[in-house]
Amino acid sequence: MGYPHKSHPKETVVLSQYFGDAEARTYDGWVKRGGYQALQKVLGMTPVEVTDVVKASGLRGRGGAGFPTGLKWSFMPKEKSKPHYLCCNADESEPGTFKDREIMRWTPHALIEGCAIAQLAIQAEVCFIYIRGEFTDPWAVMEKAVEEAYAKGTLGANAMGSGKRIDMHLHRGAGAYICGEETALMNSIEGKRGNPRIKPPFPAAQGLFALPTTINNVETLAAVPHIINRGADWYKALCLSNPKSVGTKLFSVCGHVQKPGNYEITLGYPLKDLIYDMCGGVLKGRTLKACIPGGSSVPFLNREESEGCLLDYEGCVAAGSMLGSAGCIVFDDSADMVYQTMRLAKFYAHESCAQCTQCREGTAWTVRILQKILDGDGTSKDLDLLLDLADQMTGKTICVLSDSCAAPVVSGIKKFRGEFEAYLKGARRAQVAVA
Ligand SMILES: Cc1cc2nc3c(=O)[nH]c(=O)nc-3n(C[C@H](O)[C@H](O)[C@H](O)COP(=O)(O)O)c2cc1C
Repeated sequence: MGYPHKSHPKETVVLSQYFGDAEARTYDGWVKRGGYQALQKVLGMTPVEVTDVVKASGLRGRGGAGFPTGLKWSFMPKEKSKPHYLCCNADESEPGTFKDREIMRWTPHALIEGCAIAQLAIQAEVCFIYIRGEFTDPWAVMEKAVEEAYAKGTLGANAMGSGKRIDMHLHRGAGAYICGEETALMNSIEGKRGNPRIKPPFPAAQGLFALPTTINNVETLAAVPHIINRGADWYKALCLSNPKSVGTKLFSVCGHVQKPGNYEITLGYPLKDLIYDMCGGVLKGRTLKACIPGGSSVPFLNREESEGCLLDYEGCVAAGSMLGSAGCIVFDDSADMVYQTMRLAKFYAHESCAQCTQCREGTAWTVRILQKILDGDGTSKDLDLLLDLADQMTGKTICVLSDSCAAPVVSGIKKFRGEFEAYLKGARRAQVAVA
């Protein structure tokens, strides 16, 4: 299992420093690289002190919503009258996103250390790492690393000789995108159907097994040991544009680029430079048409918007999309945006848990109408119908899966309306030769 990673000189390599370095996967190799020093330090701190460092660092959740991590931790009850839990979200099923699996494959102890630190901050003896079912390699690497950490006494009843208990369990998903939604994930661990729960109550009040729970993404937790080791000010200074968006971020780039892969950049880096400089630009003889900067759930950017977009939470919104999970899907001028929109909608229709009517019916009808247009049977009313449907699917359901289906449809029609209208006038899908 190799990793074709050669850092681009403009990357800010923190989380990905040891990608491709097989020795870093082992306990001893990790310790040799400075691993578990942060945990040792945190064992001598109070939960509030640890939370305050993470708060001061400005770290925001890397799972999609960008919620401030330290603030989330501070919602956990301070007086501990019942068990607390940490869940690590390693479900990573968002189309276009493939970074968490690489953190687990190459630096499993970074994640274990990050989880252990978070557990101490929120007073959770037990952590469940919920790993996507298809992740065969990451699962095997994580399983071995957790075993090693127990064998070395870093995890267990007397973690690092501190007298504190830190337990960690791996839980395997069964390949459902919806189980990445935090409350569906908790239901899944409890052995129930992975349906999202109505909030409130929020997980910090009633989460896993109805007990106080914090849930964080893999990349969020893997950043924590670096913050403890190097300090909140160091992390906060990693900023190229907006002070509300700090730190490094792994961007998974795929689609029509010369060099797809994971690239770690400081937040605020221009999307244009990520595509043209780091990834070598679009395919030979082609021009950039569109980009989805944050995984399939966020709106398309057209070429102009992509070229002006700064990659941070605020910059992506200003450009007309969202940072999301930083799965950057690039489309060149050969892409048929009607077909691409239908493919995205089909994913959501397949993955809807069917609990909410707007989502179950809305995602399925969106696909049917888009397919009808692609088949040449669309009418002028269909675009308005799609937009009306998207409106009914936004902000009206228990989770945002149906909003995620609506986002590419609305932005696709808005930004590439001419292509939709061409189908309505009789155009057919062109065959594309790939260079
Ligand atoms: C349908 C759906 C799927 C999601 N999938 C994931 C996922 O695979 N990984 C993830 O970390 N967050 C996912 N999320 C976001 C989580 O609900 C949650 O916000 C996140 O795990 C919180 O971690 P963070 O604060 O560290 O970002 C998903 C959300 C929705 C609505």
